[in-house]
Amino acid sequence: MTKSIFIATTEPYSGKSLVALGLVNMLLGKTKRIGYFKPIINVDPLDSKDVHIETTIAYFNLGIRYEDSYGFTRSQAMGEMEQENQGSMMNTIIRKYKKIEEEYDFTVIEGSDFVGEGTAFEFELNLSVAKNLAAPVIVVSSGANRSTADIVSGALNVLRNFHSREVQVIAVVVNKVRAEQVEDVRQLLTNAIDDGTVLAIIPENKSLASPSMKEIFENLNGELLIGEQQLNNQVDNFVIGAMNVPNFLNHLKDNVLIITPGDRGDMIIAALQANSSANYPKVAGIVLTAGYQPEEPIMRLLKGLDTVIPIIFVQTGTFETSQKIGAIKSRITPDNTKKIQLAISIFEKSVDLHALDQKIVTFTSEGITPHMFQYQLTKWAKKKIKHIVLPEGNDERILKATARLVNEEVVTLTLLGDAKEIALSVKRLGLILDLSRIRIINPAHSEHYEDYVNTLYELRKNKRVNQEMARDLMTDVSYFGTMMVYKGHADGMVSGAVHTTQHTIRPALQFVKTKPGITVVSSVFFMCLPDRVSVFGDCAVNPNPTAEQLAEIAISSAASSERFGIEPRIAMLSYSSGSSGEGEDVEKVRKATEIVKQKRPDLKVEGPIQYDAAVDPTVGKQKLPNSEVAGQASVLIFPDLNTGNNTYKAVQRETGALAIGPMLQGLNKPVNDLSRGCTVDDIFNTVIITAIQAQDE
Ligand code: ACO
Repeated sequence: MTKSIFIATTEPYSGKSLVALGLVNMLLGKTKRIGYFKPIINVDPLDSKDVHIETTIAYFNLGIRYEDSYGFTRSQAMGEMEQENQGSMMNTIIRKYKKIEEEYDFTVIEGSDFVGEGTAFEFELNLSVAKNLAAPVIVVSSGANRSTADIVSGALNVLRNFHSREVQVIAVVVNKVRAEQVEDVRQLLTNAIDDGTVLAIIPENKSLASPSMKEIFENLNGELLIGEQQLNNQVDNFVIGAMNVPNFLNHLKDNVLIITPGDRGDMIIAALQANSSANYPKVAGIVLTAGYQPEEPIMRLLKGLDTVIPIIFVQTGTFETSQKIGAIKSRITPDNTKKIQLAISIFEKSVDLHALDQKIVTFTSEGITPHMFQYQLTKWAKKKIKHIVLPEGNDERILKATARLVNEEVVTLTLLGDAKEIALSVKRLGLILDLSRIRIINPAHSEHYEDYVNTLYELRKNKRVNQEMARDLMTDVSYFGTMMVYKGHADGMVSGAVHTTQHTIRPALQFVKTKPGITVVSSVFFMCLPDRVSVFGDCAVNPNPTAEQLAEIAISSAASSERFGIEPRIAMLSYSSGSSGEGEDVEKVRKATEIVKQKRPDLKVEGPIQYDAAVDPTVGKQKLPNSEVAGQASVLIFPDLNTGNNTYKAVQRETGALAIGPMLQGLNKPVNDLSRGCTVDDIFNTVIITAIQAQDE
């Protein structure tokens, strides 16, 4: 079951607050602690509060602090976009949302409002937030002032947009549909959306759409002369009091607002009398224009009455005032309990609550986004702090990554190298790094050096390693670092920024050895593609695996994938899909797939399969229509190192994808290799995944 739901729209005034209120009310019937989060709010906290957040928190008494309930203000978000800081903005949104997710059983996330200047960025941003928070979406679109055809095509367009970005939509709500259109809209959309998405058509409701006198007062910037107690009066229409009284009385409709110049005392009295008369409709209030206050006898009369409808006085002329009033959009505010309750009851009547509940209960997220993945990595690493050794202590990138890792308190670190040289480098690079928080060991001077030499000798003497060779090897930082891990003096090792892969991983292959039941050490990359993370294996270790080894690599990669929160759907890649091609290489992949199926019937695996059929839903459906992997593979197993290594580099270079790894799998203790072209971020990420691996030892 999901722990959140995202209410999204693509236009202003779609009525998503009704959906939010109805949803929170429904969820409170099932679970106690509901959180509310809005990634982008429209108002600056110094000016006022976001009305939707305020209303929901106050009405349901959610106990959430206003400051915690939003990510960015709209202007902050636009600023971040202009600076191309989308990445860090998303990280902040995830962090703030996760804080709420941790404290509450379920969180309702409300997308942005699309009100005001520059709304162009909002659609993309909402999509991206929903995806990154792995929340299923309820799409809300408006039917107000639209033809049936426009309503239907508008709703379908929005749905298509979300689908095309692989955001899962569980419900489509079309709001504010005129009563006579409701059935046609329902019929047409039911025919068009046949994938089980919940569909709700909410008829237009005058009482919700109409502003209150309070909203009119707040929008006009006028002065309230009298009638404060009745500010909640609903205004369904307005009439301009420019005619004579009998004609004027003929124009009154229920809940009417009268707009008239302030010197028309006759209109004021006529309006009050009409309001008291059983033969005339209810009058909601009066707005007096043109800067004329009522004359003193009229004011005296008003003040002597028990209850009076609100009378507002403004400086603007009648025409300008009526235009302003016509443009006022009603909002559901915390003090308007009647409207809140009405919104909830409309939601309950119009939405199939059982079907929606089922969708929420059965929803499982289809993938994990790069932002979420990186957020999770740091969080997992912090759960149980591990000690990692970095043998290349003098490399600048290693030192920069060390500063970040130490300051973020994700791991504890030992660097191998000369303490004085490292201190000088830290100073030269201007790094904020308190050296007392890390250990620095010079292998040849280490108190453990003799012990390590003897251990290596014992472990490798039958491989023609003598004492002299062992002494020599133990001055090599890769051997020393690996021995620290072997001995339990460190929990894991990350190296390879300066040394080759062979140099880095050979010691681990020689004496850390493989886990019981595993014969081959292999590797995976976590490929952070634009909107999902895929696992690529093996792109770094085994040049030409046999079918048996390939099967083992697939099984290990699936385990790594699962360990890091990605549901494994394994594609055994080849230049052939299904039975389309032949050849020795295809046969190897076919055989490997069979072995995986035999050994692990619980795993979802497809092979041989081509890359496009593995990841593209349309091609996948075409080439292997009955496959549960084709089109949605998450673990991609390459037939050999030539293909794997070049593909990961091609994807990385051509798409800008972040490649986290290679992470070695199958070793008794975690040792990981960096590429010599690695960046500080690569080192940071590899140390973190090594620390997470070490938590399982
Ligand atoms: N799994 C388990 N054990 C292994 C593996 C393996 N995949 N490969 C080798 N071993 C063991 C051997 O059994 C042997 O053990 P033993 O000495 O106790 O008998 C020991 O490791 C050394 O084996 P060698 O055959 O001598 O292998 P070598 O050390 O020469 O090379 C290596 C192993 C480094 C993995 C080699 O296969 C290799 O070079 N692979 C390619 C690495 C590479 O260049 N990758 C691309 C760049 S990485 C990047 O782009 C990120």
